[in-house]
Amino acid sequence: MTAVVETAFDTRAFRQALGQFPTGVCIVTAKVEGEPLGMTVSSFNSLSLAPPLILFSIDRKAASLPLWMKAEAYAVNVLAENQKDLSNRFARSLANKWEATSYSDGFMGVPLLPGVIAVFECAAYARHDGGDHMLFIAEVKRFRDHGDRQPLVFGKGRYAALQPTEFAAPLWPLDIHY
Ligand SMILES: Cc1cc2nc3c(=O)[nH]c(=O)nc-3n(C[C@H](O)[C@H](O)[C@H](O)COP(=O)(O)O)c2cc1C
Repeated sequence: MTAVVETAFDTRAFRQALGQFPTGVCIVTAKVEGEPLGMTVSSFNSLSLAPPLILFSIDRKAASLPLWMKAEAYAVNVLAENQKDLSNRFARSLANKWEATSYSDGFMGVPLLPGVIAVFECAAYARHDGGDHMLFIAEVKRFRDHGDRQPLVFGKGRYAALQPTEFAAPLWPLDIHY
């Protein structure tokens, strides 16, 4: 089915169309006032290589946003395909997300989750208005990459796994920009 949608925006259709763009799933963590903070996000993206910057956005309606605004450091924990339950736990508002969740302390005491496929430990760099979200830009201070694990994917409003195909040969680094 092909849907052509023009303004005035149908927000539901807009969300659905945006959901055609698949992403990985991350839990962004921080420690604020001695308490661990964590939130499932799909808005993580790379931004800059030099300086090494990444970004993510948080809904202005998120109960924990005032705490995120105070955070001076974050970790972006990129989830593996077997971490759907963890993703769901950290996507629930105000639930005790950290009960029975093991973690270690990273850069500036930020919680690091085990079993992830990559982690980026960051210092806060900038925050910008992003409409009904706040855009967080962070500078990567150190990172770890567990390349042998497979990522959890989110697209079309549901979780998925990467399906290797014949055009998925390791082409990196590409000789084109990006
Ligand atoms: C796959 C997935 C991706 C999500 N991505 C984001 C995101 O990028 N930004 C955001 O604000 N919320 C996102 N959410 C929703 C938040 O995880 C959820 O609203 C949050 O944990 C609520 O926390 P609170 O206690 O601060 O309200 C996502 C949820 C799921 C399941």
